[in-house]
Amino acid sequence: MIASDNVPYILGHSDAEISRLQTQAAILRPITERLLRNAGIQPGMRVLDLGTGAGDVAILAAELVGPKGCVVGIDPNPEVLGKATERVRNAGLRHVVFRQATADVFINDDGFDLVVGRYVLIHQTDPVTFLQAAAPRLLFTNFGCLRHALLFPAFHYGR
Ligand SMILES: C[S@@+](CC[C@H](N)C(=O)[O-])C[C@H]1O[C@@H](n2cnc3c(N)ncnc32)[C@H](O)[C@@H]1O
Repeated sequence: MIASDNVPYILGHSDAEISRLQTQAAILRPITERLLRNAGIQPGMRVLDLGTGAGDVAILAAELVGPKGCVVGIDPNPEVLGKATERVRNAGLRHVVFRQATADVFINDDGFDLVVGRYVLIHQTDPVTFLQAAAPRLLFTNFGCLRHALLFPAFHYGR
């Protein structure tokens, strides 16, 4: 599993790990929702979820932006994206899509109103380089409008 720059994502994407992510997401849901609301998420917004994993933040964001909004979740791992895709299909959320990509190479010409990445920065060997590579592509695709925000909640694992 390649996270970026050929650095393996250390926790992997076994069934047990995907299950752990979902358990963790259920615990973090209230604080994540509060953070998204405080960041100004609104119905109709376009949201990008970096390192979406099993899609929990993308699903929460999709509920908050509603069907007139749009959420794109990216992750380099196809298996975990398969799980995320199955979950949004079962939930009937048609305004969420997932793409296999790392943050440094993903390009979307339509731009986003909000970029979120939960527990992804901490997995980068060089978070500054990650942000430097990601920010221009993600934030300025629709430059000229000040609605963009870059949100990296720092829910640290305690190190
Ligand atoms: C700990 S999981 C978090 C999943 C999800 N954000 C959540 O909070 O439940 C981190 C995810 O980030 C992905 N990831 C790691 N480096 C990445 C990168 N450079 N670009 C995109 N995704 C990345 C991993 O494949 C993994 O699925």
